[in-house]
Amino acid sequence: MTSTQEDLIVQAQSLFAQAQDAASLENAKAKFLGKQGAITALMKGLAQLEPEQKKAEGARINQVKREIESLLTDRRAQMAADELNHRLAAERIDVTLPGRGRGMGGIHPVIQTWQRVEAIFRSIGFEVADGPEIEDDWTNFTALNNPENHPARSMQDTFYVDMQDDKGLPYLLRTHTSPMQVRYARQHTPPIKVIAPGRTYRVDSDATHSPMFHQVEGLWIAEDISFADLKGVYTNFLRAFFESDDLVVRFRPSFFPFTEPSAEIDMMFTQGPKKGRWLEISGSGQVHPDVVRNFGLDPERYIGFAFGSGLERLTMLRYGVNDLRQFYEGDLRFLKQFNR
Ligand code: PHE
Repeated sequence: MTSTQEDLIVQAQSLFAQAQDAASLENAKAKFLGKQGAITALMKGLAQLEPEQKKAEGARINQVKREIESLLTDRRAQMAADELNHRLAAERIDVTLPGRGRGMGGIHPVIQTWQRVEAIFRSIGFEVADGPEIEDDWTNFTALNNPENHPARSMQDTFYVDMQDDKGLPYLLRTHTSPMQVRYARQHTPPIKVIAPGRTYRVDSDATHSPMFHQVEGLWIAEDISFADLKGVYTNFLRAFFESDDLVVRFRPSFFPFTEPSAEIDMMFTQGPKKGRWLEISGSGQVHPDVVRNFGLDPERYIGFAFGSGLERLTMLRYGVNDLRQFYEGDLRFLKQFNR
């Protein structure tokens, strides 16, 4: 190789190295390998040489050409690698960053109780029924032996709705789930075995009362359902609900217009931190014959029991919550404890 030829290689190497993108590399290539390029010019020069010289010079020029081509290939590969590295750096993702996550919803503790109560009563053959929260006067009161203007009605201070039924009486937000006894019994034939959980309303608001609260009504009517059945069913329910046999139940005489006899159901834990105190848990009783008649049934033939229990009350006892208002303040610190 002549020194001029070696210079060509050095020049090519330096021009290729200077080229920073594909287009300038192509320009640099043309200076050597293009139609007007230095190698092409050398090739043309061969024509003037003697055959012997031609052969030797031709071989040298070819070697220069191969070297320049190989420099070009190297530079192209290097450019491609540079570009890839550049992109990898620019598009880098830090896979170790913590995810953004998404808050998970949860089921409200009172609704969890609702679902537990349904599951327990379904497991012993009770149906589950649902009815209106805006109720008429007859179904909420009169059919349940609360005659118009009777003082017993004032046991439940009521939200009235600005809308009248065909007797000219205002509709109201149901004050208990007991009207569901009437609705369900009038639409089904005995044996009637149903619970009706749902929202109820009273003008009442303190640590243990909320204007809106939840009850579950229970009704079992057939030809032979006695107070003993009420005791058995309800005691079993409480043991299932609290997942404990360490509790005792008492039926304390009470009054409701729609049951006779009537009882307040109290329970007491015999073990654990809550033991030793009677807790009121539910109203109950044998359904009054007049109410059975309002079901459209013959009270000489059909008999049974009813109960109405507060779902907030059950929830508070299960989890040791002492202020009912916490259920309705929407404070996630409180609510999250029930959804882990
Ligand atoms: N409805 C009554 C209340 O809200 C509870 C109850 C239901 C009592 C069924 C007896 C039978 O206080």
